[in-house]
Amino acid sequence: MSDRNNKEFESYVRDIALNEEFCKLDAVSEIHHGITRYEHSMRVARNTFKMCKFFNFENIKDITRAALLHDFYVNADMGEASSAKRLGLHPAIALNNALKYYDLNEIQKDIIVKHMFPVTKSFPKYKESWLVTLVDKTVSAYEMLKYKVPTYAGIYYLFMMELVATNK
Ligand SMILES: [Fe+2]
Ligand SMILES: [Fe+2]
Repeated sequence: MSDRNNKEFESYVRDIALNEEFCKLDAVSEIHHGITRYEHSMRVARNTFKMCKFFNFENIKDITRAALLHDFYVNADMGEASSAKRLGLHPAIALNNALKYYDLNEIQKDIIVKHMFPVTKSFPKYKESWLVTLVDKTVSAYEMLKYKVPTYAGIYYLFMMELVATNK
């Protein structure tokens, strides 16, 4: 991104990025697709911002901020829910957490609560919600391939090396 766009992006997200509760998403316990949920959220927000620029969206600040807040939860918020259940539960929890700190308009609420479509059954209502759900899926796939698959491949490799070594 250009310097100018970078500055614009940062001016939109700075207060959220520094929010003490939001910063808890950056803990090692909050690893998500091989990186922290904070880093994932930042990547989703940044790429949403870029797409908004590309498509000339007018409410770019609102969309970017909602994109940053889309996964605003910590694992403790999920209680005993299984990984599969978390997929469907976390958007509503993220929205609830976001509303504790920020006033959100209808589009922003829809962006957060529908971002897991089609796991959560209801259709995104606005083009902005479609945009963020697509950016989130693209970013998640990228992160899995870049961070998670290599981690598992590394563990598998070490395991196999150990196995081969003990068969000497
Ligand atoms: Fe999510
Ligand atoms: Fe996400």
